[in-house]
Amino acid sequence: MRKDTAWSRVGKWYDEIVSRRGHTYHQEVIFPELKKWYKFKRSDAILDLGCGQGILARELPKGVGYVGIDAAKPLIQKAKRYSNHQFSVGDVCKPLKIEKKDFSHAFIILALQNMNEGEKAIANGAKHLRKGGKLILVLNHPCYRIPRQSSWGTDKGKKLQYRRVDRYLSTLEIPIQMHPSQKEKSEKTFSYHHPISTYVQWMVKEGFSVTKLEEWRSHKSSNGKQAKMENRAREEFPLFLAIEGTIR
Ligand SMILES: C[S@@+](CC[C@H](N)C(=O)[O-])C[C@H]1O[C@@H](n2cnc3c(N)ncnc32)[C@H](O)[C@@H]1O
Repeated sequence: MRKDTAWSRVGKWYDEIVSRRGHTYHQEVIFPELKKWYKFKRSDAILDLGCGQGILARELPKGVGYVGIDAAKPLIQKAKRYSNHQFSVGDVCKPLKIEKKDFSHAFIILALQNMNEGEKAIANGAKHLRKGGKLILVLNHPCYRIPRQSSWGTDKGKKLQYRRVDRYLSTLEIPIQMHPSQKEKSEKTFSYHHPISTYVQWMVKEGFSVTKLEEWRSHKSSNGKQAKMENRAREEFPLFLAIEGTIR
């Protein structure tokens, strides 16, 4: 399977879970938190790398400039149906086919860990931002949410749920079955794991200073027998890591 086309094949499934409004994590965690970070103005221009079906565009105030790029054609087709922003099909780890070099913000939301050359997407962000522009990465938390290498466990004696992490510092390429019930027949995408230090090194190498870093937890809450333990674990282990770099 060609890895760069995997998202084209799972595009329909991804659009179904994200829909016009966004996945629950977009709606309940990521965008509410990002709205605390930024109040966009008409003079801003947003570059969205790995934009999927364009959920970020639909969250922006009217009149803010926006360009979204994604490798999966079916997702870009959906994005164009949902809003009138500028979207194009492209590999964001290769030189971008856009002239504009003065975007105010470049976002990579839940997409960098799907790229096998993520550092090149960061370099593209740097290349297309104005001086003082911001690159914002939203990642599945690389310490606690490593596909196949992290999991929940229960310590009955201490009555708590703990997070088990089997590997962290190694770079990993991890196949992800999009429909686990179909086992080996399932469509696959790939997740690329790196420790936090790697993301910071990539940013610094491209001329960014790290100017914000936050860890965002789940908005969900359990009821029932295990509620206390589960809610405590949610409070302790963040879902997402968000990093802002400012270009010097
Ligand atoms: C989990 S989706 C996230 C999409 C969107 N940012 C969102 O939050 O809904 C990951 C996206 O990364 C895109 N992607 C992966 N590698 C890419 C690459 N090299 N160039 C452009 N897009 C890529 C996939 O096509 C997919 O749409």
